Amino acid sequence: MTLSDRYSILFEPIKVGPHTAKNRFWSTPHAIGYGIDNVASQAGVRSTRAAGGWGVVFTEANTISPDMDKTPFKMSRMWDEGDVRNQRFVVDEIRRNGALAGIELEYNVSVNPMAEGRGLQPKMVSGGIGDSGLSVAYAGTLLELDREGIEEIKQIYVSAALRARDAGFDLVTFHAGHAASIIAHFLIPYYNTRTDEYGGSVENRTRFAREMLQAVRDAVGPGIAFGLRLGVDTLDEPIGLGDRGLRSDGDTPEVIKQLDDLVDYWDFVPGVVDWGIDAQSSRTVAENHEKKWVDGLKAFTTKPVVNVGRFNSPDTMVEVLKSGQCDFIGAARAGIADPYLPEKVRTNNIGDIRECIGCNICVSRDMISMPLQCTQNATAGEEFRRGWNPENFTPAKNRDEPVLIIGAGPAGMECAMILGKRGFENVHLVEKDSKIGGSINWVSNIPGRHEWRRLVEYRELQLSQLDNVEVILNTEFTAEEALEYGAGIIIAATGSHYMRNGIDPYNRLPIGLDPVYGERVLTPEQVVRDGVEVGKRVVVVDYDGYFMGPGIAEMLAKRGCEVVLATRGEHIGEYQRYTLEISHTLRDLRDLGVKLRTETSVIPAGDSKVALVSPDWQEEFEFDNIVLVGPRTSDNGLFKGLLDRRNEWAENDVSMVHRIGDSVRPHFIAEAIFSGHRLAREIDSENPAKPLPFIRERRIIDATPEDYQLGAKALSSIY
Ligand SMILES: Cc1cc2nc3c(=O)[nH]c(=O)nc-3n(C[C@H](O)[C@H](O)[C@H](O)COP(=O)(O)O)c2cc1C
Ligand code: SF4
Repeated sequence: MTLSDRYSILFEPIKVGPHTAKNRFWSTPHAIGYGIDNVASQAGVRSTRAAGGWGVVFTEANTISPDMDKTPFKMSRMWDEGDVRNQRFVVDEIRRNGALAGIELEYNVSVNPMAEGRGLQPKMVSGGIGDSGLSVAYAGTLLELDREGIEEIKQIYVSAALRARDAGFDLVTFHAGHAASIIAHFLIPYYNTRTDEYGGSVENRTRFAREMLQAVRDAVGPGIAFGLRLGVDTLDEPIGLGDRGLRSDGDTPEVIKQLDDLVDYWDFVPGVVDWGIDAQSSRTVAENHEKKWVDGLKAFTTKPVVNVGRFNSPDTMVEVLKSGQCDFIGAARAGIADPYLPEKVRTNNIGDIRECIGCNICVSRDMISMPLQCTQNATAGEEFRRGWNPENFTPAKNRDEPVLIIGAGPAGMECAMILGKRGFENVHLVEKDSKIGGSINWVSNIPGRHEWRRLVEYRELQLSQLDNVEVILNTEFTAEEALEYGAGIIIAATGSHYMRNGIDPYNRLPIGLDPVYGERVLTPEQVVRDGVEVGKRVVVVDYDGYFMGPGIAEMLAKRGCEVVLATRGEHIGEYQRYTLEISHTLRDLRDLGVKLRTETSVIPAGDSKVALVSPDWQEEFEFDNIVLVGPRTSDNGLFKGLLDRRNEWAENDVSMVHRIGDSVRPHFIAEAIFSGHRLAREIDSENPAKPLPFIRERRIIDATPEDYQLGAKALSSIY
């Protein structure tokens, strides 16, 4: 297929400094939990993005001095010759796959408590007010910059830029985006209270950036495009800095004008420390949510401009370019969810785009310093260590075996799709409901989770295009029926459900509400999926610690219920701290009048009364219903039934029986999809029930390149 005229603007080449980008797709810097020490994993993620057609592919924020080491966060570094060598490997892989390679350099004004080295001397722009560059108070304060310090940091930037050149990067972005770098702190009045020529007026506040950029240009020479990732608006208080910050309709245009001749491009983002405002989830914002801060700023520069904003839809991208908002469509998450997005647009396969659902699981992995994961794209982060490419599949050796998958939830849909793509001749995906999607069909009705429907929509379309996969609805199977169905491979993907009772994960004792209150205790499925009527006064008891408890509280409060949300955890919806959703969630719940109780046990205190007991206080609530967001348990009866009949497998020509997703172990949706994907990728291995060893990228004494190949002896002792 050929490029449709409608999208051709996305493929117009454009000059960026000394280079020409082949199209308008710009993969913005984003951390993936591998740093530069896991160099092949780093290269795997980025080169897949390049192969997927992104014209410009950035790696991530690189620390440029041991003084601002981000340990324990595993981020790339540009400190020494060793880093240069590893970075060069990544650059070569990006360029070999057809993209320009970019790096983001950052002298971060914060210090982490467990930094790898000791004797660190991290600097900040000025002392006193605005001395908030610390990630934790107990790590102590930073050193106020004197003249010598300013020169030293300029030199650190120069050295890092020279290393970036030696590594072969085409573009270097200096990070001043999320109010965390020293460049940003010089620009923002709140942080910069200096009274010398580096503080005060815009001209003074841009002086450091001007001098640094000039010094870098002088040292590096032509051949590299330099840009600034600028935090254009530090937002209103209390999230932002209000009048003491940098505002799009305030000083920002002047900042841009003063620095414009020293940069080759601009990458505009919001400028607050909470980078969750930039990488907001779909719970709060839709595509192009940064428009209100960035629109119009292009008028103040003569250089190409990059914007981000969870761009997924090629139509929105076209609109944004045509409106003159920017020149490049920047994206982190759309590229994580679908590294081949540009290629799919170019070849007019729009429907095949695996759209980001905005769940921010990728962000959470970054926040807990773990390798990249994506709910939509099971291959994200697995490019090198498992050798997976999201669009390439090898024909399975046992593809002539008919397959029966029971349950068309996330795991079942994914497994059927991948088996179909691996050439299985006959896959039946059977679902007891009247539509596929499983739990997503009701979970996506929780406030703010509607975009999660895309998990189903994408797979529904893919399955409909696979002639070798048949979806059979409204059909339930017993173990006996499954065995007699005529399938050689049977896969149970029967999901899980919330328990009416169960064990309190915090103290391992029975929860004990159901035995006292019986049907007045409701599960999430009853409330959200089945629409069971809920009384006026509701206590939502959350043992799950993610989105379900707060989501149900929000939903019921919006219906007019008086809601108390109680959790044994130290925080409401604990995991949402990592998805960077928590501040929005708390604000919305408070606005709705939901009473929030943390570190709280809910215990019976009478017929229609519960006691909320925290370590410091106790209170009682009259209620009509309790919604128990308790532990989940696997629906694995079918699988167990199949195992019990193992002696009947041979006579029914069944060679193997597996289970996937929540029916193995309830977990995140991302894990369910991964589980289905993994089994399908490895269904022709010796023992598909066990994941094949992946490449653990690490230093191995006396290693040879063979030690880092899939299947190497050095890796095979995991199980
Ligand atoms: C997992 C993850 C890690 C990120 N790490 C960085 C980073 O290292 N440097 C940076 O400037 N921005 C980082 N970002 C922000 C993105 O570059 C981007 O500005 C933001 O996600 C909004 O774009 P999007 O809506 O296309 O995701 C990160 C984003 C994600 C999702
Ligand atoms: S994890 Fe979620 S938010 Fe992140 S890229 Fe994947 S689908 Fe999008």
